[in-house]
Amino acid sequence: MWGFCSSSLKKTPLPAVTAEMAKKRARKKIGLTEFVRRRRELMALMEDDSIAILPGALARFRNSDVEFRFRQDSDFHYLTGFDEPDAVFVLVPGREHGEAILFCRERDDQHEQWHGDVTGPERAMQLYGMDDAFPITDIDDILPGLIEGRSHLYYAMGADRDFDSQVIDWVRMIRSNGQPGTEPPGEFIQLEQYLHELRLFKSAAEIELMRRAAEATVRGHIRILKNVEPGMLEYELEAELYHEFVMAGARWPAYPAIVGGGKNACTFHYICNDDVLCDGDLVLVDAGGEYENYACDLTRTFPVSGRFTKAQVAVYEVVLKAQQAAIDAVKPGNTWNEPHDAAIREVTLGLVDLGILKGDIDNLLKSEAYLPYCPHKTGHWLGLDVHDVGDYRVNGQWRVFEEGMVTTIEPGIYFGVDQDDVPADYRGIGIRIEDDILVTRTGNEVLTAAVPKAIGEIEALMGGGGH
Ligand code: GLY
Ligand code: MN
Ligand code: MN
Repeated sequence: MWGFCSSSLKKTPLPAVTAEMAKKRARKKIGLTEFVRRRRELMALMEDDSIAILPGALARFRNSDVEFRFRQDSDFHYLTGFDEPDAVFVLVPGREHGEAILFCRERDDQHEQWHGDVTGPERAMQLYGMDDAFPITDIDDILPGLIEGRSHLYYAMGADRDFDSQVIDWVRMIRSNGQPGTEPPGEFIQLEQYLHELRLFKSAAEIELMRRAAEATVRGHIRILKNVEPGMLEYELEAELYHEFVMAGARWPAYPAIVGGGKNACTFHYICNDDVLCDGDLVLVDAGGEYENYACDLTRTFPVSGRFTKAQVAVYEVVLKAQQAAIDAVKPGNTWNEPHDAAIREVTLGLVDLGILKGDIDNLLKSEAYLPYCPHKTGHWLGLDVHDVGDYRVNGQWRVFEEGMVTTIEPGIYFGVDQDDVPADYRGIGIRIEDDILVTRTGNEVLTAAVPKAIGEIEALMGGGGH
């Protein structure tokens, strides 16, 4: 028999949900009703006789007893809004005693003295709309009983070795129970394929949070455009960015900022950010804030001195034209690859104009002659993750854009210092321009449009005089 034990072992009386706690939650833009709706949508995609199990992120140590700042797993956050470590969420469609079940840390005076408030199972039911909640320490006693008799088990197989073996242990416990009629599930199904399809389409509340992330990010980028000077260190720009992000409520960067001066811009995920910014060089800044778990992802490339050189202008105009062509191709009915095709066409035309490629455009495109200078894709989905979830192909075909999707558009051209097939003036130039694009009913909206990217606008903002 699997027992259901009492869900709290709290030592001191449990405080009620105060008005202040309610207010703190009210400030969040994703409301409880939306989390409940997401669970319902997922359950509608699941088999009747099924159960889904989703582990939250674990706390990780940085060194000795110091933890990394906790960031909830995005799938877990999407379904629960519950951002504490050591939690497992379970959905059991049609369960008489409630479908949404949370296992989480119990309240503990001593722990809370050091680390602050813990929600605990009782309050998780009130605050997060759970039908049932239990201490995480009781999961081995309770979860096998929930799995038992369900014929389909949904979870992220292979994503986490420890959790895989925990799931197998629970199934083994059911098998070894030996009672007639206690069957483990016959089918294990990947949960992500359903969950990630839901996450791909952003609701009005999610778009609102992404706008906030974009606003904070825009402020950061404008601040550095106004303040960069030759002789500064790359990480000084990083500091200026983060200042604005946090002041605008984006408490954390969505990913480590890339601030690459000169040739450092040619290293795609350059995050050392410890070089000196030199007069005459460009600096590529790829940085975005995260607001209530939603990401912004924005890149601008601009001259450290405030004024582009002739060679920089020539390359920059190609990337800008490619980016605009790609943005124009983001609209309902177009496929996900159309922006990329539009961008590489402009890049290839530009490389011919710069004298770097020679020949017929269609042949150059067919042979992917642009690849040594433009080696990455033009975008990716954006949402709770900076490289967000969602399939790019459906049944082997590129996915069609639909309202509510958000993608980045970020073509780049990079000429390494050793690339001797490129005129010397262009070597060591790396340029990427990136914006976040919301697909609307009739076309698109650029969420990050407020940071200038035309050469004249950048130079005017930087006070370097116009071209
Ligand atoms: N910031 C990483 C990227 O643009 O994909
Ligand atoms: Mn980026
Ligand atoms: Mn990106």
